[in-house]
Amino acid sequence: MAFTDEQLEEWIEGLTAQVESRLLETLRTPHNFVEEAARYLVDAGGKMFRPALVMAAGGLGLEEGTVNEDALVSAAVAVELTHVASLYHDDVMDEAELRRGAPSAHRKWSNSVAIMIGDYMLAEASVLGASLGVDFVRYQGHTISRLVQGQIAEMVGPSQGVDPITHHLEVIKGKTAALINAAARYGGWFGGLEPDQVEQLTQYGENLGMAFQLADDLLDIVSDESGKSPGTDLREGVPTLTTLLIQTHRRSEDERLLSLLSGPVSDSDLSETLALVRAHPAVEEARDEVRKWAEKARACLSGFEESASTRLLNVVCDQAVMRSS
Ligand code: FPP
Ligand code: MG
Repeated sequence: MAFTDEQLEEWIEGLTAQVESRLLETLRTPHNFVEEAARYLVDAGGKMFRPALVMAAGGLGLEEGTVNEDALVSAAVAVELTHVASLYHDDVMDEAELRRGAPSAHRKWSNSVAIMIGDYMLAEASVLGASLGVDFVRYQGHTISRLVQGQIAEMVGPSQGVDPITHHLEVIKGKTAALINAAARYGGWFGGLEPDQVEQLTQYGENLGMAFQLADDLLDIVSDESGKSPGTDLREGVPTLTTLLIQTHRRSEDERLLSLLSGPVSDSDLSETLALVRAHPAVEEARDEVRKWAEKARACLSGFEESASTRLLNVVCDQAVMRSS
């Protein structure tokens, strides 16, 4: 039977509600403080993008009747736990003030608490993974390894002779595309799809992940409503595609901006820097790069027969592009 877009949406909403309650159940512990600190970011309300992607990909198996809903929910909970764990750690590393519109966990408590809570979540994700089989556990391990290596590559910076933009795209592949790749792959697995379809979905997730992070980095520059402090990357001196493009072009009229971007931007220089970056054509170039990755993701769906799920997976590509505009 063919599912309409509305039926698919309802099915995903139903499973996402299960993911939300399973997430809270998983974090339950008699140790009240651990539970409170672990719920802190979950309760602050994430977009639940990765769990929804697990379901949207899994929906490709609905018409064949091959979907294992329980496994989809467990995989989605493990993915979201991994994602939130990485945010606890990331905010310590970035010294971020805000996350999901609230003071970041390390600001509210301490760096040690934020790191331990991230570890607690990763541990609980591993327990959950055990019920999904050895292939799942192996892929999760491989994914987390890519996340960590991407994050470290960002800290270390490009080696001598390596183009900073090439390096930056490698960083993003690890720190973001890897987990979005995994979310799409798990959807394919537990949707009961054929191995070559699972591969296509995995590549879809990888390319979408690139578009997603590049769009997120643009939001840090162009939006005042992301739930994070605008210009965090600039303040921390973290390179993004836009700033790397500005530094590559080195236009003579950008002398002031290039000097502001030569290190972390101080609070007093932030609004001037943001205004100069926002007015720079590199923003549009970075948007083109988001479009390019979203197109690559879309191309991975070409082997699937059109269905409500392929339509939704295409819409997700459009949304990644729209977020950056
Ligand atoms: C946000 O990126 C952070 C990530 C996408 C991943 C961070 C990965 C780690 C901290 C490695 C450790 C991993 C685990 C699983 C504990 P961002 O800083 O560019 O974006 P933001 O604006 O949301 O902070
Ligand atoms: Mg960050």
